[in-house]
Amino acid sequence: MAGSNGFALEVSRIRTGDRSIAAAAPKMLAFLAEVTDSALLAECKAQAAAVAAYLAQKKDVAAEEHNAALKIKLRVGHRLGEVLADNVRAGRRWESNSDTVSELDRDLPEEITEKQSSRVQQLARVPWQEIAERIDAATKENERASGAKVVREFLREVRSRDLAAKAAAAARTGEGQAWNIHTVDVLEGLRAAVVQPRLVFADPPYNIGVDYGRGVNADRLPREVYLARCQAWMRDVRPLVRDDGSFWVLINDESAAEFNLALRAAGWHIRQWLIWYETFGVNHSSGFNRTHRHLFWAVKNSRRFVFNPDAVNRLSDRQEKYADRRADPSGKTWDSVWGVNPPIPRLVENARERLSGFPTQLPLALLLPIVGCASEPGDLILDLFTGSGTTGEAALRQGRRFLGFESDETIAEQARVRLRAFQGELS
Ligand SMILES: C[S@@+](CC[C@H](N)C(=O)[O-])C[C@H]1O[C@@H](n2cnc3c(N)ncnc32)[C@H](O)[C@@H]1O
Repeated sequence: MAGSNGFALEVSRIRTGDRSIAAAAPKMLAFLAEVTDSALLAECKAQAAAVAAYLAQKKDVAAEEHNAALKIKLRVGHRLGEVLADNVRAGRRWESNSDTVSELDRDLPEEITEKQSSRVQQLARVPWQEIAERIDAATKENERASGAKVVREFLREVRSRDLAAKAAAAARTGEGQAWNIHTVDVLEGLRAAVVQPRLVFADPPYNIGVDYGRGVNADRLPREVYLARCQAWMRDVRPLVRDDGSFWVLINDESAAEFNLALRAAGWHIRQWLIWYETFGVNHSSGFNRTHRHLFWAVKNSRRFVFNPDAVNRLSDRQEKYADRRADPSGKTWDSVWGVNPPIPRLVENARERLSGFPTQLPLALLLPIVGCASEPGDLILDLFTGSGTTGEAALRQGRRFLGFESDETIAEQARVRLRAFQGELS
């Protein structure tokens, strides 16, 4: 394929339906590897955009076509970055039309600014080949896999990895600690706190007689005392949370109705009342087995809150069960009953992640999506009742910072050991 006309010819064949994008892609990618002229690459970029526009207005396009178009788009962006970065290094002016540069920065100045230069270097570093390989691997596993989703996940993973590594380095040097667990009563902790978490999680004692180090009676308070305490932390935590932040609360059947009202009374907007189906429970011979808990997703501001649907995305039934080519390749957000698809079973005694001696450890599979969908890398996550530190591990695994309150020192130390061990794995 010679010159820009060759590339354009492939594009016009695609647009007239003479050739599939997947069939044209190898030639187009090979062509891009050879181009050294940024103006020509800018033209290819416009052509790739035309392919995307053509795809957008077509119905029932196979995921393979979308993925091939995405790979071409990624390669064009990367190649442009490389060529422009070469120009910057050689001290040359932009050899490009203003359209191309406008994506790098709105107004084209006479001289290249430092910001533009670093943006160009950044584009040049995009590991397009690795991303393309991941798209291919995902497609091999499932021919309807979404390349766009692979890219989003890849970028998220890179960002989290960088942040987690930074957090581990900071923890080693003692600078800007990535996590902390205070041995403190929740209400005292909230009174003294000067933090602004994006997300707060609470899995409080359920007042059912579990021994958290102070005997079973400490978790068997008169009902009104228990509920008044819960109302107090629901109220006191709200001013700390960032305006677009959220509060997630897990509770059993006995107190769910009261928690719904108490959260509202404390000024929270209940975004959704979710159910966690935890797969199995103790057998009931005179009733139905208890296999669920209530998960309140409450937001501070009903119009503006963080929600990353990619963290809670699954294959749709059309993709998974019916092999329907019309399926949206980007999948589907989870249903409001969690734990059915994908399963999130409660931890059995011999589960790998289970810590010995702590009675109510939640699975990471429950906290990872909460942290992922309701916060951004770098955000501070606060857990009011840390327990074994599951929320802390879910936060650090995804490049977030963590602060936990825990009233029992032995339990708090067990959680610290867990987080140190996790950080050890990272370094
Ligand atoms: C249900 S457990 C939390 C389990 C945790 N989500 C996990 O995955 O390991 C509740 C925890 O809250 C702690 N706790 C009880 N009362 C507290 C209080 N007033 N302030 C802070 N922590 C408290 C208990 O010691 C226990 O570790």
